[in-house]
Amino acid sequence: MVDRIAEEKINQIRQSVDIVEVISEYVQLKKQGRNYFGLCPFHGENTPSFSVSADKQIFHCFGCGAGGNVFTFLMELEGISFQEAAVKLAGKANIELQLRMDASVKERKLPKDLQDLYDAHELLRKFYHHLLINTKEGQPALEYLLNRGFTRESIDKFQIGYSLDSWDFVYKFLIKKGFRIEVIEKAGLIIKRERDGSYFDRFRNRIMFPIDDRNGKTIAFSGRALGADEPKYLNSPETAIFNKSKILYNFHLAKPHIRKMQTAVLFEGFADCIAADRAGVENGVATMGTSLTGEHVSLIRQNAQAVTICYDSDNAGIEAAFRAGKMLTEAECSIKVALMPDGLDPDEFIKKFGSEKFQKEVIGASLTWMSFKFLYYRRGKNLQIEGERLAYIEEVLQEISMLPKAVERDHYLRQLAAEFSLSLEALKDQQKQIFFANKKQGKTKPSPSLKLKQVTELKPAYHTAERRLINHMLKNRDVAFKVQELLQGKTFNIDEHQAIITYLFGFYEEHPDPASSEFLNYIQDAKLRRIVADIEMMSLNDELTDQELSDYLKQVLNHSIWLKIKEKEAEEKEAERQSDYKKAAAIAMEIIQLRKML
Ligand code: UTP
Ligand code: MN
Repeated sequence: MVDRIAEEKINQIRQSVDIVEVISEYVQLKKQGRNYFGLCPFHGENTPSFSVSADKQIFHCFGCGAGGNVFTFLMELEGISFQEAAVKLAGKANIELQLRMDASVKERKLPKDLQDLYDAHELLRKFYHHLLINTKEGQPALEYLLNRGFTRESIDKFQIGYSLDSWDFVYKFLIKKGFRIEVIEKAGLIIKRERDGSYFDRFRNRIMFPIDDRNGKTIAFSGRALGADEPKYLNSPETAIFNKSKILYNFHLAKPHIRKMQTAVLFEGFADCIAADRAGVENGVATMGTSLTGEHVSLIRQNAQAVTICYDSDNAGIEAAFRAGKMLTEAECSIKVALMPDGLDPDEFIKKFGSEKFQKEVIGASLTWMSFKFLYYRRGKNLQIEGERLAYIEEVLQEISMLPKAVERDHYLRQLAAEFSLSLEALKDQQKQIFFANKKQGKTKPSPSLKLKQVTELKPAYHTAERRLINHMLKNRDVAFKVQELLQGKTFNIDEHQAIITYLFGFYEEHPDPASSEFLNYIQDAKLRRIVADIEMMSLNDELTDQELSDYLKQVLNHSIWLKIKEKEAEEKEAERQSDYKKAAAIAMEIIQLRKML
C-alpha cells in the first residue's frame, strides 16, 4: 500500500487535466453534439458506443458498460492502482506528487529462498549479457546473432547473453557470490552428477535468452545451441518461480502495447517474438515451446480483446494455430491468423523480406478466423474430386451454421456458392438443415446479440425512476436531501441504487458541491462506479419539477407496496385454505388499505 493522497491534491489534479485530452491519447474521439464518441478500448467494436463528456468529465460505454472518470479510465485501461493513475495524471498536469512507499511494504520480504532464486537469475542475466557483448569468448555467439539479423538494440532490449564453454564456471561464480548450493540446484542452473555428487553447469556454450515474469523479473533461461547441437533450445526446468504453462515470453514488455492496441500477437517461438519486435510489432508474446494453456488464454484475455496468431506456416504450425484459435474464441477473443508463405517462420520471413513486408503482408493481411478455418479444412483435400469437395463443403457449412449473425452467414454462403458455382438457395437450405440438426443436439450457442437484448430489454418503471432520481441527486445537493426526507427511511428497490445513494449522502456530508467526477473517486466499488457513469450520461433536464419528483418517488415506493400486497394475498389464500375466515377477512382489509396507498 502507498500513502493516501490528500484530497486537495486529487482535486487539484482532477481540475487540471481534461478527460477528453487524456482519453484522446488512447482513443480517436469525434465530437457529436455535447459529447465525444469513439471506439471503446475496453471491448472490441466496429461502431462507436464509447462516449466522453467534457462537461461532466466522465466516460461511459453503452456497449460494455465501462464507465468512470479520468482516474478510473487509466486504472482500468492500464491495470494500475488509483495512486499510480494519480501520479501519471499529476505528471501530465505538471503537478508535483510524490508518494512515500509505506514502510511495511518496503520491508515486506519474500522468503529468503525465493529471493535468492530471483537474485541468482538477475546476477546471471547480467553476467551472460556481459560475456556476449564484451568478451572474446562471446565473440562467435555475437557474430552468430548478428548474422541471423538480431540487432545490437534488440540484444540489449532482450538482454540476450552467452554462457561460457565450461563445466563449472557458473557453479563457482555463484558460490563465490555467496549463494548456497541447494538454491542454485533448485534454480536448475547446476545439475548434480549421480556418480560422485559433484555439480556441473546446465548451460554451456549457448546463447542465453532470459525469460521474465510479468513483473519483468528474470525467472528462467533458454539457451540456444550455436551450431547443430541437440537440443536446439535447452530450457530451465520448472522451479518455484518458473511455470511454463503460465509464462508468456515478452509479456512484461509487450503489456502496455497489448492494452493500448487491445490486440496481442501470439508467436510459437521467442526468436520470432524478438524479430517481430525489431520489425515494429511490439505487442507480441510467445509460449515457451509448449502449446497454449488455459492460463495463457486468460492472461491474454485480461489484457486484450483480439489476438493475431502468427505461427509457423508448416503443418504443425497450422494445427497449433487451429487449436489455439479455438481456445481463444471460446474465451471470446476475436481471432485473426497471419500466414507466411513457403513454410517460413516469422523470424525467417523478416530476415528475408524485411519489416515493412512483415507488417503489411503478414500481420496486416491476416485472415479472419472463419477464412482461416476454410483454409484449414481444405488442406490435404483434392477439391477436384467430388467426394472430397462435398466433405469440404459440409465442414464449412457446419462452421457457417455456428455464426450468430445472418449477414455473416449470408456473406460466407455467397462466397462458397461463387467459388464452387453452386446454387445459393440450395446451400442456404442445406445450411438450415445443419442448423436445426445441431439445435436438436444442443450444439448451437445463443448469439451474443440475443443475450445483450435480454439484459437491456424493458426495465420496470421503478428501475428507470430510481435512475432518474439519482441523476438529479448527483446534480443537486438539495434534491438529494429532499429525496432522503421524502423516502422516510424507506430504501430504493435496487440494491446497487441504494448503495449509490448511501455513498452520495456520505459524500454530501463532507462536500458542499455536487461534482460528478469527484464523486466517482469517492466510490470504492468498480461496479457501482460504472452504474454512476451510466446514470450520469442520461440526458435529462437540469430542473426537476415537483410533479416529476413525486411521480418518480411514487414509482419507487409503489413497488415495495406491490411486493407487500403480493405477500398479503398469499397469506390471505393460506388463511382461506385453513378455513380461518376471520383472519382472511382481516388480511383482505389490510390489502385494501395498501391498495389505497398506491
Ligand atoms: P522452433 O524449433 O520453431 O524454433 O521452436 P525457432 O523459434 O524457429 O528458433 P530458431 O529460429 O531455430 O532459433 C519454437 C519454440 O519451441 C521451443 C522454444 O521455446 C522455441 O522458441 N523449443 C524448440 C524448445 O523448447 N526446445 C527445442 O529444442 C526447440
Ligand atoms: Mn526460426
